[in-house]
This record gives sequence, structure tokens and C-alpha cells, in this order.
Amino acid sequence: MTGPHPGIHDLSLATTHYRLDHDTLARHLGVDPAKFHDGLGQDSMSVPAIDEDIVTMAATAAAPILARHGTDRIRTILFATETGADQSKAAGLYLHGLLDLPTTCRVVELKQACYSATAALQFATALISREPRQQVLVLASDIAAYELGSAAEPTQGAAAVAMLISADPAILRLEPHSGLYSGDVSDFWRPNYRTEAVVDGATSISAYQDAVQAAWSDYQRHNNRELSEFAAFCYHQPFTKMAHKAHRHLLDSTDADAGLEAAINASTPCNRAIGNSYTASSYIALACLLDHRDDLAGQPVAIVSYGSGSVAEFLSGIVQPGYRRHLRTTANVQAITRRTPITYERYRTLHQARFPTDGADHDLPQESAAPYRLAGISGHKRIYQSRK
Ligand code: HMG
Repeated sequence: MTGPHPGIHDLSLATTHYRLDHDTLARHLGVDPAKFHDGLGQDSMSVPAIDEDIVTMAATAAAPILARHGTDRIRTILFATETGADQSKAAGLYLHGLLDLPTTCRVVELKQACYSATAALQFATALISREPRQQVLVLASDIAAYELGSAAEPTQGAAAVAMLISADPAILRLEPHSGLYSGDVSDFWRPNYRTEAVVDGATSISAYQDAVQAAWSDYQRHNNRELSEFAAFCYHQPFTKMAHKAHRHLLDSTDADAGLEAAINASTPCNRAIGNSYTASSYIALACLLDHRDDLAGQPVAIVSYGSGSVAEFLSGIVQPGYRRHLRTTANVQAITRRTPITYERYRTLHQARFPTDGADHDLPQESAAPYRLAGISGHKRIYQSRK
């Protein structure tokens, strides 16, 4: 094969300082905990401290990548999020300042619900195919917050992933032809005047399943590969049971062997602990899979990306020889296990304090132990601090 074969050269995740356990939530809502553990497939959810947001999580995920590879070849920063802090300024610019990235690069924010990190990957590979020396830093960072007391409340969460995309990837070479689907559906959306999304839960589940099936049909038009040939599948996981539902739907619709259900198992434990992280979710699934299965070199894996509204993409990549040497398994596990459990009362207070009053100046108390924090808001400007 000639020419560059872009893909994921490095992959790192970050999440929040706090976690709320689903047992605690179930007790306060008077719900059987088995509904959350077995019905939704969730054990806990990440909860941001008062001084954490999408920028601090993304910077925390990206810093070790920059420490390992330097910044000289980065010419583009793509920040995927659906919970942006500003209608105009890209979140990536705050991160650009915090991480001292080169001025000789373009920075942009991308939005299409949970899907946009996948668009960022595709745009990155296109840029690299044209100019193979450059690297692209892709960030996906979100805080999933729903109304207290709503059916969606147990599917909240927050996390970020950072990915370095290059022409000579050490981890996953992306294959050129993916399967696509887009359709105008109102299953989940957040009008500008709302801080929480509007959700039609039942519609969102069937829209996700139908979109994935359509994206797979398109994938098959461009690739000579059956579902049984994938070593694993990394689905978007708003709650981990959704990945099982969507996968089963796909297997049923294609008459594939039900034994293939196990091919998603290693991709779910991290999201089971984190909750929905919107744009980051499929790539946390990928990190989790690579960290916890050790037999994947040379094999194809599928990434199944879905964003309400809706867009789905079924993309695939080949795990690279020697990839295990480049993983961040210990750091990824620690990011999840070191979170501090909080009480239901503290969680409620943090939930309500997420958006400081418009126009007010705020110095935020130091809570998070992460290397980057939101120190305050002054004159409508977000002020970030690095502990490094
Ligand atoms: P709900 O009202 O809790 O649903 O809402 P439910 O009553 O149907 O219960 C859920 C499951 O728990 C069911 O299992 C019950 O049987 C089971 P299922 O039939 O589905 O297999 N259950 C129990 N299991 C064991 N023991 C028990 C028990 N009781 C019940 N005692 C819903 C669930 C997901 C709708 C809600 O949480 C919600 O609205 N979430 C937000 C929307 C969402 O996550 N949609 C997913 C697809 S859309 C998507 O992924 C995009 C998204 O990430 C956003 C974006 O793209 O930007 C959301």
C-alpha cells in the first residue's frame, strides 16, 4: 500500500474529580438499584468539581500526549463537544493557551451531538493525507447533564479523550471507507435557551439503532467485510446497555451469529463507571478495549459512532503491531479509580452551580486535584490555571 495511512498515534483519557455511585442515586430516588446496574448497565457517573469543565478535562487528557510527542508537528486542533462554554470562541483556544501550543496552527470547535469527534478524526486524516508531516490533535470533551428527577438523570457523566492523529500511527490505522447515515430526527437536542437537553428517550433508542443499521449497510457497500470479521466493536455508550441493544439489533438485522455479542464486552467497563461522555464515549470505549484485551494486533475493530439529531458512522481501523507499548493503561485506570465519591446532597449542589450567573465575576474555590482548573470568570472571560 502506498501513501500515508493516517490513524490514532496516541490516545489518553481524563475524567472528573468526583463520582456519584448509582447505589447512592437509587437510594435517594427510591429506585431499585438493579434498574441502574442491570437495566442501564451503569455503576457510577463522573461529576465535575466546581473548578472543572470541558477545557480542564481535555487539557488533562492532552498534556501527557504532548509531553511524549512534543508539539512541533501539530498544525491543527479540533475540539469536539456539544457542551461548549461559548457560542463564539472555540474551547480549543483556551486549551491552546493552557498547553502552550504553537501559534502556527488552526483551532476549531465541532458540533453534532455525540458524533462530532468522529467527524474530527475524518477531517484530521484528510488533512494528513494532503500534508503527511503534520499531526492533528483531536479533543472530545463533554459534560452530560440532565434535569434532576428526569428519566435521563442516571445516564449523566463527564469525560474527555485526546488523540494524536498522524500519518504513521502506533495504535490504530483508520481504514478509508466508512459507512454513513444522516437524517433529521428530534430525539435529543438542546436549544440555546436551555442548559439541559430535551430528550425523547424511546425515540432516541430506536433512532440510534436504525441509524447504526443504515450506516452498516452503507459500510458494506464500500467494504468487502462481514460483521463476524471484526475482532471487536466500540459503540457510542450513553449507557452501556445501549451498546448491547444496538449490537443485538444489528446482529438480528443481518442474521449474524449471536455469539458475536461478546465482541463488545471489553469496550464497556470504563463507560459503565464514567457514564455518558457524549463525544468522548466511543473513544473511551476504544481505549478501554485496547487496554483490557491483549490479542488485537493486526485485527480490524469497528467504531460505531452515533449523535442524536442524527448522524451515525460505522468506521473501522486495523490495530497496529506493537500497539501495547504505546497505551496508557495505568493512567487511564487511575483516572477512573481515583475519583472521590460524593454524597447525593453535594451532587445536587454541584449540578445546580454549573452555570455561574451571567455577567457576574467569580473566583472558584479549589476543589479539583487535576493539573488544570477553571480559576474563575471575570468580565465574562474564563480564567484557567495550570498547576504545572
Ligand atoms: P427509563 O424510563 O428509566 O426506562 O429511561 P425503562 O423504564 O425502560 O428502564 C430501562 C431499563 O431498565 C429497561 O430495560 C427495564 O426493563 C430495566 P430494557 O427493557 O430497555 O432492556 N429495568 C430493570 N432492570 C433490572 N431491575 C429492575 C428494573 N427496572 C427496570 N428493577 C432512558 C431509560 C434510556 C430512556 C433514559 O435514561 C433516558 O432518556 N436517557 C437519555 C437518552 C439516552 O441516553 N438515549 C440513548 C440513545 S440516544 C444517544 O445515544 C445520544 C446521546 O448520547 C446524546 C447525543 O448524541 O448527543 C443521548
